[in-house]
Amino acid sequence: MEDPLKQQFLIDLNKIDSLQALLNTKAKYIGKKGILTEKIKILGQLPQEERKAQGKILNELKNFIEEQIKNKESELKQNQIRESLTRDYIDITFPGKDYYFGGSHPVNKTLLEIIDIFSELGFTIEEGPEVELDYYNFEALNIPKNHPARDMQDTFYVNEDVVLRTHTSPVQVRVMEKKKPPLRFISPGKVYRCDSDVTHTPMFHQVEGLMVDEEVSFSHLKGMLIYFLQRFFGKKIPVRFRPSFFPFTEPSTEIDIGCIICGAKGCRVCKGTGWLEVLGAGMVHPNVFKFAGYPDRKYTGFAFGMGVERLTMLKYGIDDIRLFFDNDIRFLRQF
Ligand code: DAH
Repeated sequence: MEDPLKQQFLIDLNKIDSLQALLNTKAKYIGKKGILTEKIKILGQLPQEERKAQGKILNELKNFIEEQIKNKESELKQNQIRESLTRDYIDITFPGKDYYFGGSHPVNKTLLEIIDIFSELGFTIEEGPEVELDYYNFEALNIPKNHPARDMQDTFYVNEDVVLRTHTSPVQVRVMEKKKPPLRFISPGKVYRCDSDVTHTPMFHQVEGLMVDEEVSFSHLKGMLIYFLQRFFGKKIPVRFRPSFFPFTEPSTEIDIGCIICGAKGCRVCKGTGWLEVLGAGMVHPNVFKFAGYPDRKYTGFAFGMGVERLTMLKYGIDDIRLFFDNDIRFLRQF
């Protein structure tokens, strides 16, 4: 027959469900005042023969209990680890977070490209204010008050004398006021017009150019601008010059390239003409030199202006200018 103490222990052992309960049970049997410990303590009061037999039984029981406690303890610890593994499970097959490299905005890319090409041609960079005096934006460019050419540019007025510049041309006069020829610079920057549709935004970018010296001629203008356009759009692009009018140049020209959308066959973008306007230019009007304070007839020069968004749209076949400013990452990432 099994020892009733052992039976009792086994029942208790079975009920254990935590490390604390295990400690309690351990104390109950083999702690300092445990049932088994007490029994061992009083062994000495037994007669020698009985003491020997009983001692052996109790010792075996003690070893048995110790071993069971140890097994139970490692079983409980294993369970604990298993539980925390399921609870704090990390799915190592889960895809990581994507990361992307930043890049230049397409308008910036075009700006840098324009700057690169003209730098090679010896042009430096000049800047002017975006909040500009009416005087520089219009008057000094030979556009007097009430001149019909002011209607072409939907001006944001700050007050009667101050505007948001409608073009980068005022930088021409500001630089000439300070510097003597030879001059050869471009001036990239933001301009503002009260206009908004698929090809117009209230803010856009222009690059102005000016070259002034004693013998600058229209052939310099043609040579440099054809070179620029063929560098920017590709060597084979056809270029044509049309007579035009700007108050600050005489003669004035608008420059077209063969339509890159349809290969100059005629399409919706070039309105069936096969040509796309990309630049305004001309020989600096003598009145502009006069406003800048240059001596009469001493210098000649050519000037030009271009829209950066427009050039970018043509180069990459983008049909809505507003995409540049929505900053949809899916659009921007394509450049
Ligand atoms: N300022 C003109 C515009 O915004 C562009 C332009 C045309 C600039 C002819 C020039 C030029 O320097 O010579 O429409």
